[in-house]
Amino acid sequence: MAEAETVSLMDFDEDENQNLKPKDNGKNVIVSGTPPDIKASPWVEKYRPQSLADVAAHRDIVDTIDRLTSENRLPHLLLYGPPGTGKTSTILAVARKLYGAQYHNMILELNASDDRGIDVVRQQIQDFASTQSFSFGVKASVKLVLLDEADAMTKDAQFALRRVIEKYTKNTRFALICNQVNKIIPALQSRCTRFRFAPLEPVHVTERLKHVIEAEGLDVTEGGLAALVRLCNGDMRKALNILQSTHMASQQITEEAVYLCTGNPLPKDIEQISYWLLNESFADSFKRIQNLSFIIRLVLFVLLL
Ligand SMILES: Nc1ncnc2c1ncn2[C@@H]1O[C@H](COP(=O)(O)OP(=O)(O)OP(=O)(O)O)[C@@H](O)[C@H]1O
Ligand SMILES: [Mg+2]
Repeated sequence: MAEAETVSLMDFDEDENQNLKPKDNGKNVIVSGTPPDIKASPWVEKYRPQSLADVAAHRDIVDTIDRLTSENRLPHLLLYGPPGTGKTSTILAVARKLYGAQYHNMILELNASDDRGIDVVRQQIQDFASTQSFSFGVKASVKLVLLDEADAMTKDAQFALRRVIEKYTKNTRFALICNQVNKIIPALQSRCTRFRFAPLEPVHVTERLKHVIEAEGLDVTEGGLAALVRLCNGDMRKALNILQSTHMASQQITEEAVYLCTGNPLPKDIEQISYWLLNESFADSFKRIQNLSFIIRLVLFVLLL
């Protein structure tokens, strides 16, 4: 397999039979172990793309990675961009495509909650990269080391990784994932093909949300859907988390329910407040605004009950 040291200037700036590693708000990555109860999973995990075709948006990036994987020419990868845009999901889909059901034997996944000082890079990665794998039915000959949240690695560990990458390039591919690419030392960046995952366009968030809404049989109004898309700012994880929490709080997912659930003021309230402030005396506006926020607090309290 060709050694990849390309730096792509393309402006395209992670399961089954595994359980979740409790870590944070849905950024959990799948590790080997017992199967999760998929029905009870948070929707961000239940609807994590299973294949590269399921990844919404970023078509150019995903198609490029898909082609490289099919041709067995996968370079070292550096995927960066804001949270909830599909970086981890994409790499997990690549691993599934490369190794099938055996993939948890073929990848070493380390993230920021693990100790990733210089010793871990030297020891764990070297141990994994230097051993032969005896998984049955696996077509790919290379293993995958997944360094999620690579921007949290110490500089020393990054410098140590530089040598490790070179030493094991023959049978191991490294996938570095981070939010802030400027925290990755240039020497590592130049060993990887970089892909930038931009925030998802509203059209792609809408499409993916519709898929989940249909699968879950939810009652979502047009205003509710628009509010979800507006509030998530291109972060698909956030969109799914808001959708699920609003669904738990109210039967019908309306614009109002979404705004109340997230604690955001309703656009119509903002408009009303602006109107009062511009057209009425300060004392009257102040009284009306106080009453308005009391009503918002009351509705929130009733919804949470
Ligand atoms: N492009 C996408 N297509 C479909 N679902 C997505 C996409 N991006 C994110 N999601 C949803 O959001 C969840 C989180 O995505 P993922 O873990 O891939 O994000 P990330 O880019 O790695 O974020 P972070 O930088 O916070 O680790 C996924 O389980 C999936 O449900
Ligand atoms: Mg991630």
